[in-house]
Amino acid sequence: MCGIIGYIGTRPATPILIGGLKRLEYRGYDSAGLALLDKNGLTTFKAVGKVARLVDKLRGDLSPEKHESYTVGIAHTRWATHGAPTEINAHPHFDKSRKICVVHNGIIENYRSIREKLQKLGHKFDSDTDTEALSRLIGVHYKGDLRLAVVQALQQVEGAYGIAVLSADEPNKIVVARKGSPLVIGMGDGECLVASDASALVSHTQRVIYLDDGDIGVITPDSVDIRNQDDEPITRGISELDLDAGAVEKGGFEHFMLKEIFEQPESVRNALRGRIDLSEGNSVLAGMQMSPKELAEIHRTILVGCGTSLHAGMVGEYAFEDVAGISSEVQQAAEFRYRNPIVDHHDMVIAISQSGETADTLAAIRKAKEKGTMVLGLVNVVGSAIARETGRGVFIHAGPEISVASTKAFTGQVAVLLLMALKLGRSRRLSQEHGVDLAQEINQLPELIDFVLKQNDAIAKVAERMAKSDHAFFIGRGPMHPVALEGALKLKEISYVHAEGYHAAELKHGPIALLTPGTPVIVLANQTSVLDKVWSNAEECKARGAHIIAVVTEGHAKTDLTDDIIVLPKCGPLVATIPAAVALQLLAYHVARIRGCSIDQPRNLAKSVTVE
Ligand code: G6P
Repeated sequence: MCGIIGYIGTRPATPILIGGLKRLEYRGYDSAGLALLDKNGLTTFKAVGKVARLVDKLRGDLSPEKHESYTVGIAHTRWATHGAPTEINAHPHFDKSRKICVVHNGIIENYRSIREKLQKLGHKFDSDTDTEALSRLIGVHYKGDLRLAVVQALQQVEGAYGIAVLSADEPNKIVVARKGSPLVIGMGDGECLVASDASALVSHTQRVIYLDDGDIGVITPDSVDIRNQDDEPITRGISELDLDAGAVEKGGFEHFMLKEIFEQPESVRNALRGRIDLSEGNSVLAGMQMSPKELAEIHRTILVGCGTSLHAGMVGEYAFEDVAGISSEVQQAAEFRYRNPIVDHHDMVIAISQSGETADTLAAIRKAKEKGTMVLGLVNVVGSAIARETGRGVFIHAGPEISVASTKAFTGQVAVLLLMALKLGRSRRLSQEHGVDLAQEINQLPELIDFVLKQNDAIAKVAERMAKSDHAFFIGRGPMHPVALEGALKLKEISYVHAEGYHAAELKHGPIALLTPGTPVIVLANQTSVLDKVWSNAEECKARGAHIIAVVTEGHAKTDLTDDIIVLPKCGPLVATIPAAVALQLLAYHVARIRGCSIDQPRNLAKSVTVE
C-alpha cells in the first residue's frame, strides 16, 4: 500500500524514480509525486492518477538539462487512506519551512492530536493527510541534524510507517525509517536507493538490506548507517536479490495478469521443486522445521489470511481434513486477531500471504504467538514482514506478482498446502500407497495447468457471451467451494461485475431469488462424490433461465444442461482446484478485457494492504 522510492548518487534521479514508481504502481495509484533536491533546494511535482500523469507533468515543467542536474530525490505512489486522492494530498509532504519533505507508507494513528498541537503553534496544514502531521513534526525538531529530528519526531508518533525524508539543508543524505511498513535499501556503485519493495531496485542493484521495525537509517551515495530507536548503531546483513529485471516486465503480454496466469506451470513447478518424494509418497518441507513426532502431535491447524490467500486456506482446510485426518479451520485474519481465539500449543497456525505484508495477517500471527501457538508462514515474498515474524514455514517461490489481482500466488499457495497435507498425512493415517498416488498427482500440476491454458481462446469466447451481464454466480461444493469464491472475487476485482460465490447447495436458500433469464452461473462440476448433487443445483438454475457455464472434468460434460463448457483435465478433487482456478482466472481476465477495464490496477484496490 503506497510505494516509495528514493535515490542518491551521481546519475540523474528523475528516470530512476519514475522507473521505480512504475514498478511500485501496483501498491497504489490514486496519485503520485516526487521531490528532487540540489544545491538550490527542493523541487516537487505531483499529479492525480497514475504515474503516467506525473511523467506528463515533469515533461512539461522540467527541461532535459534540469533533469540531468538532479541526483537526489524521493518519490511516492499513493493509495489514499486519509484525505481524497488529490494533488494536495499527494506526497511528498513538507514541514513549515518547506525545506524538509517526507514520503510515507502506513498510517500515523495519532495524527489528529499532533495536528491539533501544531495548529496551536501556528501551523496551517496544506493537506488532509496523516503524513503532513509527521513532516511538520520533523520540522519542529530540526536543529541542523535531519536524522536526529526524525528520531525525535518518531518518538511522538503512533502507528505504522515506512518513510524517506529529505532536507534542503543536508542535500547529501536521505533519512529512512521503518515500523510496520516495509523498506529495503539497495546498494549500488557510488549510489544508494531505498524502496518499499525490492522489485523497484532490481534494475539497479542486487545487493539489498531489509530494514527491520524500529530501524532508522541514513543513506548517502556510498554509505548506509542504520540505528535503532535508542540511536545505537546496528548491523543488518546484505542480501543478494534472487530476482532478475525480466521477472517484473510484461514480457510481451498485454497485461501482467495474463503473463502471471500463463506463468503458472512454471511458478507451480518452482513451488514443488525438490519438495516431492515420489517413492515415499511424502513431501520434503524443511522450512517447517518439524520432526515427524511433532507433526504427529498437532491436534488442529488454523489457516489465517485475507482475500485470495484466505480462499487458498479454505482449500487447505479440505486437504488437511481429507488427506491428513486433522481437524482444520480457516479464519479471516482480521477476525482472528480480535476474537480471542481458543488456541493452544497443540495447534498449528498457518499464516498465508502473498506479499507477507498484510497488516491483519501480521497481527493474527502476533496474537497466535501471544497464546503460545506454533505459527508457520506460507509466503511468497522472501524477506517480508510475515516471513520474518513467523521465522519458519514454506515459501511458494511464485516470483514477483505485479497484477493487483492475485493468480499465481493462489495456485502456489494451494500447491504448497497440498504438500503440507501430504506431510501431515504421512505422519499419521495416510498410507505410503495413497501418499504415492497423491504425490504423483501433485507432481503433474504443471501439465494439468497447461491443459487449461491451451483453452485460452475458447475461454475468451465464453467470456464474450458472459461479458454483457452485470451479475454472475459461481457455485461449487467441497474444495471447489473456495474455488467458486475465488472465481467470483477475481471477476469482481477486475471487471466490476457483481459476482457471488456460493456453496452449490446454498443457492436455493436465498440467492436463487436473484436469478433472471440469462444470468451466468458458473458451475464447478468435477467433484465425483457429489457430482450428481451439483448437476441438480445447476438444473435448478437452468429452470430459471440461467446461462450455465460448466467447468467439468474431461468426458463428463452434460451438454443438454450447459450453455458453455470449460474442460478440466482428469485428476482428483483436491488437485483439480488448481486447474479450475486457472480456468476462472482466464474467464475473469477476458471479461474484464472485453469490458475495457484497467486489469492490472483495478479501481480502489491495492496489492498489499498494510493498514487494518
Ligand atoms: C489485497 C489484495 C488481494 C490479496 C489480499 C491479501 O486485498 O488486493 O489480492 O489477496 O490483499 O494479500 P496477501 O499479500 O496477504 O496475500
